[in-house]
Amino acid sequence: MTNHTIVRNTRAIWGAFIVLFCCSLAPFFYQGLAGAQSTQPATESQQEQPLILYYTLTGKNKIIASELKNLLSCDVEEIKTASVRSGIWGFIVSGYENIFNKDAELQPFTRDLTGANPILICTPLWMQKISSPARTFLKNPALKGKDIYLFVSFNGHWGEDKEEEYKKELAAQGIHIKGIYRMVIGGKTEDDIKKEVIKQLEKKPIIQKTATAL
Ligand SMILES: Cc1cc2nc3c(=O)[nH]c(=O)nc-3n(C[C@H](O)[C@H](O)[C@H](O)COP(=O)(O)O)c2cc1C
Repeated sequence: MTNHTIVRNTRAIWGAFIVLFCCSLAPFFYQGLAGAQSTQPATESQQEQPLILYYTLTGKNKIIASELKNLLSCDVEEIKTASVRSGIWGFIVSGYENIFNKDAELQPFTRDLTGANPILICTPLWMQKISSPARTFLKNPALKGKDIYLFVSFNGHWGEDKEEEYKKELAAQGIHIKGIYRMVIGGKTEDDIKKEVIKQLEKKPIIQKTATAL
C-alpha cells in the first residue's frame, strides 16, 4: 500500500466516523428544539382573560360593570333572573329572598368560564346581604379555583362583620374571594359612580400590569 493510499483511507474512515457521530447526536438536537418549543410562553388566546359579571335591579350595577369594562377592556355578562323584577313587587320579592336566605331563580348561564380569570361580580346589597341572584350565581361550581372579586354597592351601611361572615361561608363552598370593593353609591349620579369605580381600583388594583392606568 502506498503512502498516498493510506492517507486516502484514513480520511475516508474519519469522514465516515464524523457522519455517524453527527447522526447519533441528531435526536438530541431535535429533542432540544422540541423542548424549547414546548416551553414557549402561552399565546394570547391561551391566556386567561378577566370577566365582569353583574346583577342589577335598578340599573346602578350596570353602570359599575360598564366602567370596569372600560378600565379592564374585557367582556361583561349580565346575571339575569328567570322573571323580570320591577316596581314594588320586585323590591318585596328581593327583600324576602334575602331575609330568608332563599335562592333566586336565574336564567341559564351558558358562557363557558374555563378561560375566565379573574372574575369580577358586581351586585347590590339587599338587607345587609349580597343580592339573591349574585348569591345563587356564586354557588356555580365553575367558579371554584377562580380569583373572585366582589363589587358590592349599597346606599348607606354594610357591617364589616357581615362581609367577613359571607367570605367564610363562600370559602366553605370552595369559592375564594380575593377582594371585596365596597361601593357606597346612594344619591350618586352616573358620573360620580364611575369616578367611584376608578377611585376604588386606584386604591386596590386588580390587574397589576394595568395598575398605572387604573
Ligand atoms: C330589596 C332591597 C334591599 C336593600 N337593602 C339595603 C341595605 O341593607 N343597605 C343599603 O345600604 N342599601 C340597601 N339597598 C339599596 C341597594 O343596595 C342599592 O340601591 C344598590 O346600589 C342598587 O343597585 P342596582 O341599581 O344595581 O340594583 C337595598 C335595595 C333593595 C332593592
